[in-house]
Amino acid sequence: MRVVLLHTLLVSILLHQTLAMLSPVDFLALQSIRKSLQDMPGSHYFASWDFTADPCNFAGVYCSGDRVIALNLGDPRAGSPGLSGHLDPSIGKLTSLAEFTMVPGRVMGILPPAISQLKNLRFIALSRNFFSGEIPAGLGEIRGLRTLDLSYNQFTGNIPWSIGSLPALSNVILSHNRLNGSIPRFGSSSLTRLDLKHNDLSGPIMQDFLPPSVQYLSLSWNRFSGPVDRVLSRLTRLNYLDLSLNRFSGNIPGILFTFPLSNLQLQRNFFTGPVQPVDQVRIATVDLSFNRFSGQISPLFSSVQTLYLNNNRFMGEVPSTFVDRLLDASIQILYLQHNYLTGISLNPTVEIPVQSSICLQYNCMVPPVTMPCPLKAGNQKTRPTGQCIEWKG
Ligand SMILES: *[C@@H]1O[C@H](CO)[C@@H](O)[C@H](O)[C@H]1NC(C)=O
Repeated sequence: MRVVLLHTLLVSILLHQTLAMLSPVDFLALQSIRKSLQDMPGSHYFASWDFTADPCNFAGVYCSGDRVIALNLGDPRAGSPGLSGHLDPSIGKLTSLAEFTMVPGRVMGILPPAISQLKNLRFIALSRNFFSGEIPAGLGEIRGLRTLDLSYNQFTGNIPWSIGSLPALSNVILSHNRLNGSIPRFGSSSLTRLDLKHNDLSGPIMQDFLPPSVQYLSLSWNRFSGPVDRVLSRLTRLNYLDLSLNRFSGNIPGILFTFPLSNLQLQRNFFTGPVQPVDQVRIATVDLSFNRFSGQISPLFSSVQTLYLNNNRFMGEVPSTFVDRLLDASIQILYLQHNYLTGISLNPTVEIPVQSSICLQYNCMVPPVTMPCPLKAGNQKTRPTGQCIEWKG
């Protein structure tokens, strides 16, 4: 009888092990990860994490064979408060992991360098937590990495050069951190999205630093400098470009306006020279404000719905095509204030459609119509004549 009982016990232990299947290494790693994280009040993510049962059935744990292949930490439902604590270095033991995500929360501390042991990782997204310290350079050893989203954290230091050389990178989202230094050369021919906005990055963007595959590029709110005409001329697939709030200088190539852009944000830089599109501009929103652009305003811009050319050094007459488009309400915003413009053929008695705004304040003319300008335009209708003479000459 005792022998039979023992036998049954042994069989059930063996059976349990073959059913649970998860490798002991992954089992222990999940236990350590669990110990270093907590649900925030109102989150119940770890309720299903009972280590007497099969971890492959835990919320956010996905297995293939005896290995964890995806780990989605935290309750992904909208409004869930997320997790707190820190990420245990044993994450590096889950070497079959292809996808690793964490919901927004208050997870702090470093991203353990052991993460670079996850050689099968393709997707990592840890956005909107409180990770700090440097981005581990070892991420640059994960050759298959496609998506790297560490946005809205507190990472400091440089973007490791090694990350730029990853061959399969497609999405790099490092916005809203405290990264500094210059950017690496991105070599992946499948890079489509590069979002580095809101950091402390600086230096020039070299001509071959961004591959022509890039469609979404935001470098806004940094301290980048130098010319971009050459690098931009190669990025013919851009559909979103935001270089605003940097120290970029030099000219903007006219060919840029033929790219399939829906949004072009170049405001608040030190760009100079005339802006000469090569064809009618089909971009819905163009913001060139607060630069040092000069010369005449090209009539090819009159097809833009929302156009900010204010606070530059544009001169001459506003082309009449703008007036036509304004009056048939195909222009929504036309900001021309704070330039050196000398005229616009707008009959003072015409009615500007209510959907359209035009601001002409502080130019070398008396605005023919009074329109509400943004508060920042000040209340001086006209530029002092002394400033206008040299431009007229
Ligand atoms: C980046 O910031 C660190 C401090 O976080 C500083 O020591 C370092 O000199 C900075 N590097 C650059 C290139 O600005």
